[in-house]
Order: sequence, then structure tokens, then C-alpha cells
Amino acid sequence: MHAFKDSGHLFRLAAVFVAGILLFLVIRGFLVPKSFGQYGHYRGVAMAEMAARPVNFAGHETCETCHADVLDKKKDGKHAHVNCEACHGPLAKHADDPTSVQPPKLDTAVLCARCHEANAAKPKSFPQVASADHSTGLPCDTCHQPHSPVISGGTK
Ligand code: HEC
Ligand code: HEC
Ligand code: HEC
Ligand code: HEC
Repeated sequence: MHAFKDSGHLFRLAAVFVAGILLFLVIRGFLVPKSFGQYGHYRGVAMAEMAARPVNFAGHETCETCHADVLDKKKDGKHAHVNCEACHGPLAKHADDPTSVQPPKLDTAVLCARCHEANAAKPKSFPQVASADHSTGLPCDTCHQPHSPVISGGTK
């Protein structure tokens, strides 16, 4: 009957594999969250969990309804397309309740350098300065109005 002599060890080896696979399936059944694979290779409930998190950014349109003066200054200047919360940070709580939640003061030495510090990896066309030489230690907003930063050639 046996295809060849002493084939018993092959069946024992196969049995070890089958037991291993069963063990794997049982452990996997315990570890994989229920909603995994509902939509794709992630937990289906992750979508609801994320949607339930509080919104931190108000969006610039919301800021502009109350701070129209800032928009006026900004809209024709070089920062027209840099939106409020890119600099001021997420402020949905302030927008909901402006009198009790005050935005933190910004440190221009850190903020402006984040985008404008000279770096060979940035496109040459993007305005950049070596801030230590350029500002001689003064805060950037001593000379530049943050909402409309160009100094020469008028107030843009
Ligand atoms: C519902 C109206 C309203 C909305 C919306 C609103 N603000 Fe304000 N904001 C105020 C008021 C009122 C003050 C407080 C003025 C004061 O106390 O002198 C203020 C103060 C500030 C200040 C501090 C001003 C200072 O003199 O130090 C900043 C910065 C600011 N808002 C940015 C924002 C940004 C950015 C947004 C959008 C995310 C925003 N605000 C949305 C009404 C609003
Ligand atoms: C390029 C960065 C930048 C952007 C974009 C920006 N701000 Fe500011 N803003 C500043 C800095 C810097 C100050 C001065 C320091 C401070 O008050 O924290 C300031 C000050 C303010 C103040 C205090 C009063 C004043 O007019 O100086 C308000 C209000 C304000 N910003 C609202 C806004 C709103 C609303 C927008 C979007 C329409 C906006 N900012 C976009 C950087 C920015
Ligand atoms: C989130 C990124 C960002 C931050 C933060 C930022 N800027 Fe800008 N800035 C820009 C962009 C984008 C432009 C437009 C570049 C263009 O026109 O190619 C610009 C343009 C400028 C210009 C005009 C340069 C020129 O000659 O065309 C000046 C000056 C300037 N920024 C100064 C500042 C100062 C001062 C601060 C801090 C208060 C600041 N920026 C913060 C992104 C930023
Ligand atoms: C003592 C005044 C002064 C201070 C402080 C200052 N700047 Fe300037 N900055 C100028 C002048 C003047 C120009 C040239 C005129 C212009 O483009 O507005 C300029 C130009 C720029 C430009 C445009 C460069 C280009 O190649 O087009 C950027 C970006 C800039 N500054 C960013 C900053 C940043 C960031 C800080 C803070 C680290 C800062 N500035 C501090 C006076 C100043």
C-alpha cells in the first residue's frame, strides 16, 4: 500500500503543519478586530472613530467673517494664499468662543523661518533668507507686517 518504506514520518510532519495552521487560525480569530476587512485592509470602525474626533481647524472663511480687517490687508499681498491657520495653528475652539479662548502669541523667529529659512533643497523661486544674517536678531515683524509682508514698493 505504502508508496515507499517508512513514509509514516511524512504524515507526522504533515500533521504538525496542520496543527500549526489551525493554531494560527484560532489565534488570528482572537487578535483580528471584528470590523477588519469591512471596506478594505483596515478596521471598518476606524472611519467612525476618526469622524467622531473633534475638528481642530476652523478654516479661513470662518476666521475672515470676524477678522475682515486682516483679510483686507492680506488679500492683495504675497501671503494672500497662505491661510490663517497655517500660521496661527488650529483655532476652531477660538472661532467657536472667541472671548474665552485667546489664540497664543506667535514667535515670528520660529514661524517665519519654518517656511523662509534658506535651504538649497527649496525651489530657487521661493523667497528665502538666512535669517540670522537677514534679521540681525530682530523679530521678523519688526520690519514685515505678517499679513502683508513685502516692504519695498508700497504696503503690499
Ligand atoms: C466669531 C468671531 C471670531 C472668529 C470666527 C474668529 N475670531 Fe479671532 N478674535 C475674535 C475676537 C472677538 C477676538 C478678541 C479680540 C480682543 O480680545 O481684543 C479675537 C482675537 C484673535 C487673535 C488675537 C488678537 C490679538 O490682538 O492678540 C487672533 C490671532 C485671532 N483672533 C485669529 C483668529 C483666527 C486665525 C481665526 C480662524 C481660525 C479666528 N480668529 C476666528 C473673534 C473671532
Ligand atoms: C504668514 C503667517 C500669518 C498668516 C497667514 C496669518 N497671520 Fe495673523 N498674525 C501673524 C503674526 C506673526 C501676528 C503677530 C503676532 C501675534 O499676534 O501672535 C498676527 C497677528 C494677527 C492678529 C492680531 C491683530 C493684528 O491684526 O495684527 C489677528 C487678529 C490675526 N493675526 C488674524 C489672522 C487671520 C484672521 C488670518 C487669516 C485671514 C491671519 N491672521 C493670517 C501671522 C499670520
Ligand atoms: C506657511 C508658510 C509661510 C509662513 C509661515 C510665512 N510665509 Fe512668507 N510667504 C509664503 C509664501 C507661499 C509666499 C509667496 C511666495 C511667492 O510669491 O512665490 C511668501 C512670501 C513672503 C514674502 C514676499 C517675498 C517676495 O519678495 O516676494 C515675504 C517678505 C515674506 N513671505 C515674509 C514672511 C514673514 C516675515 C513671515 C512670518 C511673519 C512669513 N513670511 C511666514 C509662505 C509663508
Ligand atoms: C531690519 C528689518 C528686517 C527684519 C528684522 C527682517 N526683514 Fe526680511 N526683509 C527686509 C527688507 C528691507 C527686505 C527687502 C524688501 C522686501 O522684499 O520686502 C526683506 C526681504 C525679505 C524676504 C524676501 C527675500 C527675497 O529673496 O525676495 C523674505 C522671505 C524675508 N525678508 C523674510 C524675513 C524673515 C523670515 C525675517 C525674520 C527671521 C525677516 N525677514 C526679518 C527687512 C527685514
